[in-house]
Amino acid sequence: MSALTEKVVSAYLQIFQSEPSYTILSPGRINIIGEHVDYNDGFVLPAAINKYVCFAIAESGSSSCTLVALDLDKTYAFDLTDEISPVADMWVNYILGVVAPIKKELKGFNLVFSSTIPMGSGLSSSAAVECGAAFALNTLFDLGLSKEQLAKLGQQAEHTFVGVKCGIMDQFASVFGKANQVIKLDCNTLTYDYFPADLGDYCLVLLDSKVKHTHLTSGYNTRREEVEAGLNIIKQAFPEVNTYRDCTMEHVESVKDRLGAIRYKRCSYVVKEIKRVGEAVQALASNNFEALGKLINATHEGLSADYEVSCDELDFLVAQAQNIPDVLGARMMGGGFGGCTINLLKKSAISKLEDEIQLAYKKRFGIDLEVYQVAISEGTHLYNRN
Ligand code: GLA
Repeated sequence: MSALTEKVVSAYLQIFQSEPSYTILSPGRINIIGEHVDYNDGFVLPAAINKYVCFAIAESGSSSCTLVALDLDKTYAFDLTDEISPVADMWVNYILGVVAPIKKELKGFNLVFSSTIPMGSGLSSSAAVECGAAFALNTLFDLGLSKEQLAKLGQQAEHTFVGVKCGIMDQFASVFGKANQVIKLDCNTLTYDYFPADLGDYCLVLLDSKVKHTHLTSGYNTRREEVEAGLNIIKQAFPEVNTYRDCTMEHVESVKDRLGAIRYKRCSYVVKEIKRVGEAVQALASNNFEALGKLINATHEGLSADYEVSCDELDFLVAQAQNIPDVLGARMMGGGFGGCTINLLKKSAISKLEDEIQLAYKKRFGIDLEVYQVAISEGTHLYNRN
């Protein structure tokens, strides 16, 4: 047993005086490229990582349910006969949002969980909680939900109980992740392929800016509204366009005035990023890591200047990394406004990257940066059954 699973199982035993029926692991994710295009019918290239939320679950024997968040030292109890609606404590909403739509099919349960995914770091700890809870309930009550249904249940919880109109990438990656495989997900059809994550002499390293994002207050939903409005303007002028996937920069340029400065920037970013993901897939397939690095750099430029979801700390980390010769590409990752950068670099340059940037970052912002070397891992899965 890992330290995480051991901690959760022994806490369950201590709190409920009985063994849990199931122990489940649900991972966070990285994304190689394809940012803010999952809700724009684009493609994304995420992968699950070896940082997890662990859940222990069993029936309670009544209609009452108890949730225990070990890391927060908090407990929340509710009854399935009560109406389930969002509460003030956000961690509870991730789980209640999953419970509410399937409430009729459930009996009372006790759930204890803890996480090694840093919160608010852009590694999708919230998707891991949602999908892990959905998986746990699916297993305990034999609901027969498919992996796709679990991912959608998680996304729905985020929309309705958390208030973030996220795309499907995080939940999909958490549920469908495979060891050493990157997922190429078509966010329009939800069809997907796996790619071997074999980077040869190169590797991916994450730098955690320690600036915590919260999408609710950081304009994630505003970006969605801006690009939706932008797409409607493009569609009016070009009826052959259905989604951003059909859009070219010529379309965007020709309605530039009608879009206005902000929407023009947002739409340009989306159209260019969808194109970049296609090119990145080719670069990966042909082991052209230099080309992949350039695309990653271009994504950061777009996210920072046009989509405006970066921040000073992330821009600094990216600029510093891009100055190191063996770093092929660096960009902010995930929703933005804080969290991690993802860096593609020669394995031999890892300690140089760590040492130089850690020092420079501390000097500039007074923040101790954290470095994560993650392994690409299995998606949400049953760890143990009693
Ligand atoms: C967050 C959302 C995802 C996706 C990314 C940006 O992580 O949850 O759906 O939009 O931001 O790519």
